[in-house]
Amino acid sequence: MKVIFILKDQSEHEVNFENGQTLLEVAKQAEIPIHSYCEGNCICGSCHVLIENLHDRLSPISEQENDALDNAIGVTPQSRLACCLVLDSQLDGLRAKIPA
Ligand code: FES
Repeated sequence: MKVIFILKDQSEHEVNFENGQTLLEVAKQAEIPIHSYCEGNCICGSCHVLIENLHDRLSPISEQENDALDNAIGVTPQSRLACCLVLDSQLDGLRAKIPA
């Protein structure tokens, strides 16, 4: 299974993941440049990504993720926090853009 990260320079990077990993863990393993000031605890909002597809398969945004998103810049309806998003086979092919 894989996710595709789109970086600020618009380059695309396919990265493999396993069931149960968070999007942030997968990004870090692949050295995708993404902030994580609270170290993946769904508090700081710095791991903000824009999800481009599969919206109907994403888990709903929890209250904690919603609160942390208040700290992110440039939030849109596609915004999620990479550390709060747990991946499974339903999300194979997910496209996550790192906001400019
Ligand atoms: S790393 Fe802080 S909210 Fe994700």
